[in-house]
Amino acid sequence: MKDGIRNVAVIGAQWGDEGKGKIVDLLCEDFDVVARYQGGHNAGHTVKFGDKHFALRLIPSGILHADKLCILGNGMVIDPEALLDEMENLRAMGVRIEENLKISESAHVILPYHRALDLAREEAAGKAKIGTTGRGIGPTYESKVARTGVRIADLIDPEVLREKIEFACAEKNPLLETVYGKPPFDPKDMLDAYLRFGEVLASRITDGPILINEQIRAGRKVMFEGAQGALLDVDHGTYPFVTSSNTIVGGVCTGLGVAPKHIHKVIGVAKAYTTRVGGGAFPTELSDEHGEHLRRRGNEFGTVTGRPRRTGWLDLPILRSSSMLNGIDEIALTKLDVLDEFNEIPICTSYRIRGKEWKTYPSFMLEHQAYDPQYRVVKGWKKATAGMTSYEALPQAARDYVRIIEDELEVKVSIISTGPRREETVLRRL
Ligand code: GDP
Ligand code: IMO
Ligand code: MG
Repeated sequence: MKDGIRNVAVIGAQWGDEGKGKIVDLLCEDFDVVARYQGGHNAGHTVKFGDKHFALRLIPSGILHADKLCILGNGMVIDPEALLDEMENLRAMGVRIEENLKISESAHVILPYHRALDLAREEAAGKAKIGTTGRGIGPTYESKVARTGVRIADLIDPEVLREKIEFACAEKNPLLETVYGKPPFDPKDMLDAYLRFGEVLASRITDGPILINEQIRAGRKVMFEGAQGALLDVDHGTYPFVTSSNTIVGGVCTGLGVAPKHIHKVIGVAKAYTTRVGGGAFPTELSDEHGEHLRRRGNEFGTVTGRPRRTGWLDLPILRSSSMLNGIDEIALTKLDVLDEFNEIPICTSYRIRGKEWKTYPSFMLEHQAYDPQYRVVKGWKKATAGMTSYEALPQAARDYVRIIEDELEVKVSIISTGPRREETVLRRL
């Protein structure tokens, strides 16, 4: 690690599922702390090594390394039941979860009415639905911003929790019943259940910003693990087809209480093509056999919901926007192997929108057809790169593909992933 670079953010550069889990797992050997700063169990981060396969949702991927301190930051929304499930599943697979997992007391709690509202709204929206993961993410962030949310610390304060749950049910129950025709919740049952969650989690609840800043001050190395991707950021993404948190690097500061000067490097994780789950425009989307090929070879089915992911060619305008918003220093390019069989590979270099060329993703929303992506078509390599670990051994056309990305984005590709496993990776010395 270069002098002075201790703390690194690993962030999704597209619409999520770029392979962040794999890259965090791969790199975290060199780190002491791994912290999540936003999102919840809408995330699904896959890590594979040896004969093991893990799907992490709330817990930072660093948990798979026994000596890393893992922190769930204040910017997250946490469903305690999902967290306890995840802990149990990981333990059953031999993962150690003791004092190495801490939760910020200011993180927000997803309650059953949040989940019910998320689902009811999606159902009511019909064709206009966002295609959320149905985990209650959006409504929980709404409660946070409305200043009526339940925070993790409230789970261990029966009086405060009772007041907050009663207040919320008085408001959410009529909304669920009258507007959406859904059953109401009993605040008493909810209180009992969530106090029990609080008891089980109590020893992990801590002042997150103090904990992480103590670690930073002590010179320990911190990795900030992003969830979702830049184009799903609530401010900068493809609104309204986004998640409800700040997924970009700015979210690290607010979602953990870490000052910008402590983020020393940003690694943007990008797939060698593009995928998206849920609704919203997707300029390079393929609905032909090429799209099907990407889905099949890339195993593009959601880790959380099992939904087939939408697939398309690499889109440089979204990566340019993402690079700008995140200040990406290096790219980890994943799933290069998925392109192995194509004769030709189109790369979208810009869009033509109403007769004008756009090199970045416009912030205003357009119909899917309005983007008119402009492609540069390159030759495929038609050779297996799957599992390769050396840059020099990659076919020339694959190296050219990487170089085009570097030239167009003016960012170096420092890692190339050629398979889901930890070992299947090219690490480049820049
Ligand atoms: P994340 O949410 O960004 O962590 O990504 P996901 O885990 O949801 O989705 C990435 C998927 O691609 C997972 O199934 C990974 O096991 C898989 N994967 C990651 N890197 C590679 C790669 O280089 N090649 C192939 N074929 N699969 C990969
Ligand atoms: P990881 O961390 C891909 C998408 C959903 C939907 C939108 C809003 O695995 O990359 P939400 O439930 O967050 O309100 O849904 O965001 N979405 C993701 N897409 N990867 C994810 O996470 C996602 N998390 C949410 O599909 O379009
Ligand atoms: Mg995922």
